[in-house]
Amino acid sequence: MASLTIRKLDDAIKSYLRLRSAKNGRSVEEEVRVILREYCEGSPAPTASLTLPSTPAERPAVQRTGPAIGQASVTLIIGGGIAAFKSLELIRRLKERHIDVRCVLTKAAQQFVTPLSASALSHERVYTDLFDPGSEFDAGHIRLARECDLIVVAPATADLMAKMAQGHADDLASAILLAANRPILLAPAMNPLMWNNAATRRNVLQLRRDGIHMIGPSAGEMAESNEAGVGRMSEAIEIAAAAVDILRPPRPRPLAGKRVLITAGPTHEAIDPVRYIANRSSGKQGFAIAAAAQAAGADVTLVSGPVELRDPPGVTVIRVESARDMLHRVEAALPADIAIFAAAVADWRVAHEGEQKLKKTSAGMPPLQLVENPDILATISKLQDKRPPLVIGFAAETEQLIHNAKAKIARKGCDWIVANDVSPETGVMGGDRNTVHLLTRDDDNKIRVDSWPVMTKEQVAAELVAKIAKTMEKKS
Ligand SMILES: Cc1cc2nc3c(=O)[nH]c(=O)nc-3n(C[C@H](O)[C@H](O)[C@H](O)COP(=O)(O)O)c2cc1C
Repeated sequence: MASLTIRKLDDAIKSYLRLRSAKNGRSVEEEVRVILREYCEGSPAPTASLTLPSTPAERPAVQRTGPAIGQASVTLIIGGGIAAFKSLELIRRLKERHIDVRCVLTKAAQQFVTPLSASALSHERVYTDLFDPGSEFDAGHIRLARECDLIVVAPATADLMAKMAQGHADDLASAILLAANRPILLAPAMNPLMWNNAATRRNVLQLRRDGIHMIGPSAGEMAESNEAGVGRMSEAIEIAAAAVDILRPPRPRPLAGKRVLITAGPTHEAIDPVRYIANRSSGKQGFAIAAAAQAAGADVTLVSGPVELRDPPGVTVIRVESARDMLHRVEAALPADIAIFAAAVADWRVAHEGEQKLKKTSAGMPPLQLVENPDILATISKLQDKRPPLVIGFAAETEQLIHNAKAKIARKGCDWIVANDVSPETGVMGGDRNTVHLLTRDDDNKIRVDSWPVMTKEQVAAELVAKIAKTMEKKS
């Protein structure tokens, strides 16, 4: 049987189909099926005679379009729970993520939200009945189960989950779920006693074994009673994120199984309890590298000085203050396969940290004697047993960038150096862009300089991680 791709049709035909399907409260694909059926039966309906559905609930609130090209589409089954109102927000959240949504409401769900609201928000016709002559002439429940990329059930009631676990198909929602060959994501919501009931526990276990994805429920107050416990439906934004995770094609994970240790940010070297020596590092580059390595599948530990940045998801973040703290936490985080030292570690600290706040006195300024801090990059590069196979340092310079970076790679004993010019006019320190030169060693130990164009710090991170992945692949 041939298949028809609507997006390949002429624009005029597509406009006609959109108009006609909107008027008839059907998706464009359904409208095409109706036209073909009418044609086969010899009774094509002329455009002029098209009528709007008679009741407001049947009528689409806004003009609908079929699934947009290149977009994902979700069949959203709304069950009969008090959390159904959150599913209206879920429609919005999915659409914000360019996901088309077709809603199915169970009979019980219609006690909580109306098909009209779901239709207005989804810009699509809403489905409620298994025996709907408008969509069942060609087994609409099968199409709703298959003509999407993911089925989301929110709220997934105890009843719906029991039916799924048992394989019932006595209404549209359960028939779709039984006929599905797409991934299914459930967002359960129910009273904590229902959730903890032995029957529900059995059903949840069975559904997990059947490969059904689940998000939540979370703990909290129940809307319909004064009870609290586990049973609240996850927030719409969390469900949308879980849906996107399932829909996203699996990313390549070239650093899977590798442990990556990264440092980022400045260090603060205390002068007294309220004052410290610091530098202008924002930590953005190191955090971007941590996120990129995590996305590449690595197990990432990020040891960060004081910065105003949020932990990258999936990364173990250890917050420290001083260079000595940082070295201590870095050593404790070994062994690692790759170590990237992007932190701007203070070279010096005061020799005698004041126990109390230093006071102005007539004796004049307090002498601030400086002593050298430990050199984290050199220390780790020169380790005998636990040296990571690939050690990468950063060289932030304001003059003679390449010359100084070459000297640094030799002096510190690291494998690569990422050199960047941090003169104030470059805006690199604290900014979102970076211009870097990657210094690596050839097989014959000669230093090679690769100059990259101006990029965002995320792009630099992605390039660096790609280069690391390639090198690790060669090494193994
Ligand atoms: C006010 C009210 C709130 C309800 N909330 C829930 C709920 O949050 N979770 C649940 O599993 N059932 C809840 N129920 C029970 C379901 O509506 C009932 O089991 C229904 O048969 C579910 O149908 P469905 O699974 O086809 O949507 C509630 C019932 C009422 C009257």
